[in-house]
Amino acid sequence: MRIFIPGVNGFIGNALVRRIIAETDWYVTGIDVDKDRLERELLTNDRFEFHHGDMSISREWVEFQVKRCDVVIPLAAIAIPVLYIEKPLKVFQLDFMENLHIVEHAARYEKRIIFPSTSEVYGMVGDAHFREDESNCVTGPINKHRWIYSCAKQLLDRVIHAYRYEQGLNYTLFRPFNWTGPGLDRIEQAHKIGHSRVVTKFIANIMHNEPINLVDGGEQRRCFTYLDDGIEGMMRIIRNKDNKADGEIFNLGNPNGDLSMRELADLLIGLYAAHPRAKKFPFTAGTRVVDGKTYYGAGYQDIPMRRPSIDKARELLGWEPQTSLEDSMRQTLNWFLDLDGDK
Ligand SMILES: NC(=O)c1ccc[n+]([C@@H]2O[C@H](COP(=O)([O-])OP(=O)(O)OC[C@H]3O[C@@H](n4cnc5c(N)ncnc54)[C@H](O)[C@@H]3O)[C@@H](O)[C@H]2O)c1
Repeated sequence: MRIFIPGVNGFIGNALVRRIIAETDWYVTGIDVDKDRLERELLTNDRFEFHHGDMSISREWVEFQVKRCDVVIPLAAIAIPVLYIEKPLKVFQLDFMENLHIVEHAARYEKRIIFPSTSEVYGMVGDAHFREDESNCVTGPINKHRWIYSCAKQLLDRVIHAYRYEQGLNYTLFRPFNWTGPGLDRIEQAHKIGHSRVVTKFIANIMHNEPINLVDGGEQRRCFTYLDDGIEGMMRIIRNKDNKADGEIFNLGNPNGDLSMRELADLLIGLYAAHPRAKKFPFTAGTRVVDGKTYYGAGYQDIPMRRPSIDKARELLGWEPQTSLEDSMRQTLNWFLDLDGDK
């Protein structure tokens, strides 16, 4: 099998390609504008072909790769909340327009597509557990432009579904719920306000002994999912035993990884205190409450909670997260601390 992965250097992409090369005899071709997460050992592997470039410039090359592969997994996107507010057009152009070309190629060349949707498509729906085929997708007013990411993903989900409905496109959509783990972000991204994911931001604050910002009090709840568990779900989708993933959407999230941002801060502070580095560099800065509109800008609107139903993934993929929230956060924190060394 040959798999084509745009965005292969990303948090999910590089973990997926490492797993594929280690566990299967499949071939992978990838493209990314960066390559810092791809280890030399991987870049020199005979079954991995890497193109260092921008998919919006290398469009013909991208089309050729879709034509040549068996499965395409387009992972390139902007997936950092502050950029939905600062650069909504960039989000639309990459997350929707560029990925639309790939969807169209997959339909034209009759290739299987495994597409990353997101837990954000459910938006502000009030369901206790979000269900792939029943929950509504509820977004806010147009001037809250943070919803552009959710809407771009949702519309692509619908386009992909329509291609199956009208032309038989073979797709599977998966919706990651806040995956976390080693390799999450670059720690230096966390220094630009908000330019990283929340776990990275909190860890950077702890490492630099700066107060952790709890936006609007930090009562928002999210379900964090360990990267390896998510990748296991993707591997099951790619293997597609008895074709059970065809035409399906799967939430890949850990319903037991549910906690508020305030609780997340407390958990990370506690885990850090138990780490030997804390003796030399204790964290004393604590937390502080900041106003969401001041912190993110006027286009901000938040979602109080987000919890997946994983009944379908359990039933059709036999998938279930294996890693506890605490282990998941410990591994993520330790990865950042190891990177930083004994500074
Ligand atoms: N990580 C999560 O928890 C999560 C949650 C929901 C959805 N997703 C979706 O999963 C996918 C992968 O997420 P991720 O966490 O790995 O994101 P990421 O930001 O770590 O990776 C995206 C990769 O795409 C690359 N890229 C961006 N523009 C490109 C271009 N023009 N040409 C080539 N490469 C380009 C980036 O350099 C980066 O390596 C995204 O579509 C994201 O929306 C992720």
